[in-house]
Amino acid sequence: MRYLIIYATTEGQTRKICRFCADQLNSQGHSVEMLRVGDAEDVELALFDAVILAGSIHIGRLQAELGDFVATHAPALNVRPTLLLVVSLAIAGDDPKDRAELDSIAQEFADDAGWKPGRIEHVAGAFRFTEYDFFRSLAMRWIARQRGQKIDPHGDKEYTDWPALAEVISGWPGDGGAGG
Ligand SMILES: Cc1cc2nc3c(=O)[nH]c(=O)nc-3n(C[C@H](O)[C@H](O)[C@H](O)COP(=O)(O)O)c2cc1C
Repeated sequence: MRYLIIYATTEGQTRKICRFCADQLNSQGHSVEMLRVGDAEDVELALFDAVILAGSIHIGRLQAELGDFVATHAPALNVRPTLLLVVSLAIAGDDPKDRAELDSIAQEFADDAGWKPGRIEHVAGAFRFTEYDFFRSLAMRWIARQRGQKIDPHGDKEYTDWPALAEVISGWPGDGGAGG
């Protein structure tokens, strides 16, 4: 199959997650094109059998540029298998309230763009203290404290569950997966 992966990333973890997905698909014999959303303006969706879209949550939202891409391409996305990967730190905590909030963020993102994702998966991201500026670093240290997460304020900490992600990718799209 021919897969397209379109992603938005702010500190780099979603790119790493998409690279992993691309490597998995390649190793299964599929062809994969992976593009950062800003470089995907002219992409021809008709050339692909299935599309993965991925973005990360910052202050309760996915990246607006990913939303713009999805809104522009919704008609083509709605007639092929699609998977939305939502990267966040809240999902790492296993709190049902956080999970419900992430579900509604993802659903609102899709609804606003007129898109019906075939599947939505939440993926735990990372603290990237090596990428944050001073104020982000302060904010993220505060968030880590609130959540009781032990971090090194000068290093990175990854929560992504790579084996679980490999399982999602190897089984997708399976028999179903088309939009709606
Ligand atoms: C300024 C800032 C705000 C964030 N806001 C949220 C949030 O509201 N909810 C959440 O679960 N994670 C939040 N995160 C965590 C990110 O989703 C997480 O670090 C993710 O790995 C970032 O992916 P990226 O490196 O691809 O941008 C935030 C991170 C930063 C730096």
